[in-house]
Amino acid sequence: MNKNKKILLIGGTGYIGTVLYTYLKKKGYVVSSIDNQVYGKKVFSKGFKKNYNKYKSFLNFKSIEKDLRNTDYVVFLAGLVGDPITAKYPVMSNLINDKGSIEFLNFIGRFKIKKLLYISTCSNYGLSRSKKKLNEKSILRPLSLYAKSKVDIEKHLLKNKKKLGYSFNILRFSTAFGSSPRMRYDLTINQFTRDIFFNKKVLIYDPDTWRPYCHVLDFARAIDKILSFKKRNIDFEIFNVGNDKNNYSKLAMLKLIIRVMGKGNYKILNDSKDKRNYKVDFSKIKKILNFNTKYDLKYGIKEIVNSLKKNKTTFKKTAYMGNYEVIRKKK
Ligand SMILES: NC(=O)c1ccc[n+]([C@@H]2O[C@H](COP(=O)([O-])OP(=O)(O)OC[C@H]3O[C@@H](n4cnc5c(N)ncnc54)[C@H](O)[C@@H]3O)[C@@H](O)[C@H]2O)c1
Repeated sequence: MNKNKKILLIGGTGYIGTVLYTYLKKKGYVVSSIDNQVYGKKVFSKGFKKNYNKYKSFLNFKSIEKDLRNTDYVVFLAGLVGDPITAKYPVMSNLINDKGSIEFLNFIGRFKIKKLLYISTCSNYGLSRSKKKLNEKSILRPLSLYAKSKVDIEKHLLKNKKKLGYSFNILRFSTAFGSSPRMRYDLTINQFTRDIFFNKKVLIYDPDTWRPYCHVLDFARAIDKILSFKKRNIDFEIFNVGNDKNNYSKLAMLKLIIRVMGKGNYKILNDSKDKRNYKVDFSKIKKILNFNTKYDLKYGIKEIVNSLKKNKTTFKKTAYMGNYEVIRKKK
């Protein structure tokens, strides 16, 4: 049914992009990627088409024209992702996540793109004092440079929806967890699981702050659901992606990891590192798209433990397994 639907992933060799590739390919889509692999050039082999990724920046408009002419859908995943990495490289973050992203979104209007999926984040909700879960209409209070850029891009898309020349959806993803060919151990669940696996004491800041989590494969399922959805017009809609059941406080999440792994020590630190605190309502995606997540935290924790067992040394040492440091700085 999806045969011949061409999808271009911008940022397709990242943590989510590599999982998305495999999932969409199995579903029959023709998938390609543009990614300049800012954390180091890794060649994905097993299960990846040889020329799947074009090693270049999405900011290099001249060189990406052909790719854009040859696609039906664009999934925009690229950028410097996460609060710490954008705080560490603010100039580069501005160039890619703000200015460059806006220019790119304006540029692609001249090609015949059926739909763009802009991958945003629930971090946009920032600090909420309310006990109520936040939905797509709630006020956004981004705290970090990373989330501020995401909010600015969302605003740009919504303000210019009649001018851009393509339809889009904005997907606000929960914080991801789970295994990926390009692993990110800077994400809390993944990091805590790895630390405990290697018998390291977990240092936990802001233990009582809440956040929703979602398995990386469920993001792929949600994207497939949207791209194949025909029942009604959902153009320009925003969807939170996740599940109400996966809203956890950081400490409750850590205790769950310890229960699943049967071991683990932690120390609560008082100086706050990350004030984000929000519980999210996912009823819209459930109601409109009939989307339910399939993989819970326990599944993800066990999956990470299994991959750590198979690749002990690689996982312990590789800086590439997280958004810690930019290797490739050139445009
Ligand atoms: N991982 C999460 O928890 C999470 C949560 C919410 C939203 N998101 C969103 O999902 C998307 C993907 O996140 P991820 O976790 O896979 O991050 P990631 O860092 O693993 O992937 C981003 C990719 O973008 C690429 N990139 C950066 N600058 C580029 C440029 N100029 N040209 C081409 N490629 C470039 C990087 O090389 C990287 O492979 C992001 O938009 C992120 O904001 C992620």
